Amino acid sequence: MCGIVGYIGEREAIPVLIKGLEHLEYRGYDSAGIACLGARSSKFFVAKEKGKLSELKAQLNGVPSNIHLGIGHTRWATHGQPSRANAHPHLGQNGVIALVHNGIIENYAELRAELERHGHKFKSQTDTEVAAHLVERYYHGNLQEAIQKAIQRMTGFFAFVVISRDDPSRLFACKRSNPLVVGVGHGENFIASDISALLPYTKQVIYLEDDELIELRCDAVTVFDLQTGTRIKKSVSRINWNVEKAQKGGYKHFMLKEIYEQPEVVRNTLEARVKKGKIVFDSLTQKWIHRLKQIDKIHFVSCGTAYHAGLVGNYMLGESLRLPSEATVSSEFRYEDPAVDEDDLVVLITQSGETADTLAALREAKARGALTLAIVNVVGSTIAREADAVLYTHAGPEIGVASTKAYLAQLMIIALFSIFIGEIHPARKKDFTQAKARTLLKELSRLPRQIEETLRDEKRVEVCARALREKKNFIYLGRGYNYPTALEGALKLKEITYAHAHGYAAGEMKHGPIALIDQTQPVICIAPSTSKTYEKMVSNIEEIRARKGIVISVTTRGDENVRSLSKYTFSIPETQEMLSPILAVVPLQLLAYKIAVLNQRDVDQPRNLAKSVTVE
Ligand code: M6R
Repeated sequence: MCGIVGYIGEREAIPVLIKGLEHLEYRGYDSAGIACLGARSSKFFVAKEKGKLSELKAQLNGVPSNIHLGIGHTRWATHGQPSRANAHPHLGQNGVIALVHNGIIENYAELRAELERHGHKFKSQTDTEVAAHLVERYYHGNLQEAIQKAIQRMTGFFAFVVISRDDPSRLFACKRSNPLVVGVGHGENFIASDISALLPYTKQVIYLEDDELIELRCDAVTVFDLQTGTRIKKSVSRINWNVEKAQKGGYKHFMLKEIYEQPEVVRNTLEARVKKGKIVFDSLTQKWIHRLKQIDKIHFVSCGTAYHAGLVGNYMLGESLRLPSEATVSSEFRYEDPAVDEDDLVVLITQSGETADTLAALREAKARGALTLAIVNVVGSTIAREADAVLYTHAGPEIGVASTKAYLAQLMIIALFSIFIGEIHPARKKDFTQAKARTLLKELSRLPRQIEETLRDEKRVEVCARALREKKNFIYLGRGYNYPTALEGALKLKEITYAHAHGYAAGEMKHGPIALIDQTQPVICIAPSTSKTYEKMVSNIEEIRARKGIVISVTTRGDENVRSLSKYTFSIPETQEMLSPILAVVPLQLLAYKIAVLNQRDVDQPRNLAKSVTVE
């Protein structure tokens, strides 16, 4: 997804912008560009290129120096193909204004037609170039005013950073729905769509809200209301992510590093949330908890991997507590006229906290009076700020586009939250006792070591991956708590290997997918022995064997029965069924990773995917 960087200060701007853009590469992009202004130039220096940043950098040999103002962008195409012409920044008709943009201007076609009637000529197919022309049309020496007027004409959502060739002493930015964060320095200031781009330079940030307009100078940050132009007072926050955390740390890929960070992530979650045998959610106020106790139904709403976490949550609440719950993908929830009201809790699960569909679902739920809770990884993200309450997953920055450690962190928070509800909610299942909560907490505390043990199977997974690397179709089967694990295993494989993979509730096999099974078909069966449907999974495995399918099983260590029925087995330590998805997904992440590497895929930035899906 698109990334934005802006800089003003004493350093050479171009290396600052390039480094910032490098830190945004993980979001996924198809082209990149910069526009800068020297102290005495009468014209922007612009460089843009299709493809990776290395293509852009190749254009920057021998560029002018003494440039202290600039904007940069990584683009993920929405309007128009990935190309140099469509890459940002875009300039106005006479090259007076340069801007970068994240988001979509919904009425750009009519604005473009209007501008064309006034003689404007466009070089790209983008909505963003229309915005540049519009700002320039309204510009008569006052950039702030021109931006405000142009925004009034646009519908849609955006984050803009704008500079004028008339004034190298400042840049402006504004936002609606798309994120922007200011990085505050000494004698310099930064702006970016994502904290990662600021990390090399500062830990002091100002989070911007919708409809704010920002003026950045070397030594001042001023925030205005975008509509009225009145000044807004903002506070500076300190972030504790460091640059090393966002580096690969010796692993070949971010994804592998993140898979191996999972024991630490789970440990950190437990340390932060379980104190003296009690679950502590500091961020939940007494007032919020009071409302929670009156809730009749819980809805998990999320996308992709986070949706699978919601499905696991649905089993946790439904099965363990007997509380009515439902898991829905955000894009369905937002348009289905959802049956939620003030008696419902809507839990939005999101790594980035910026996913457009999940944000829209949150706003829909709030509009209907529901109580909302966000389970989010990125601190200060839009969904975290807009929900009634937030539980951060604190998995650290997840750079690989395929989500791994954020998923485990989400499952951990949902498990803890389920136990928490079990302890306080008057309508919980009768047999959800303090003793049961204690047992679950004890089992949870064993998970970090158990994940470490599971990761020791990496070599075994590699052997299986070598055997299956050329397969083009995979089936994943699971039941109950591990039906979502089957979906997640299949999603991981699809995302990074580009092979087709389909996850099913194993009981559905007979109703269609069984037709696919022959001696060439790999079927991954998730069959922990602590599951109450274990025998049923064994029957499914037998059915696959009877049709000569290739059985790959995930089962509990020591289960010789399933091992003897499988061609390849990945074993996980024994845990409560409710917690088994936290272990069972780990070998499936490794399997997808290994097959992708063997097939030389771009593991961290798979084709067509973006880390944070901020458009619909
Ligand atoms: O940032 P979010 O958790 O809201 O993102 C949701 C999905 O876009 C995300 O999980 C996606 O499916 C990942 N690429 C999965 O690996």
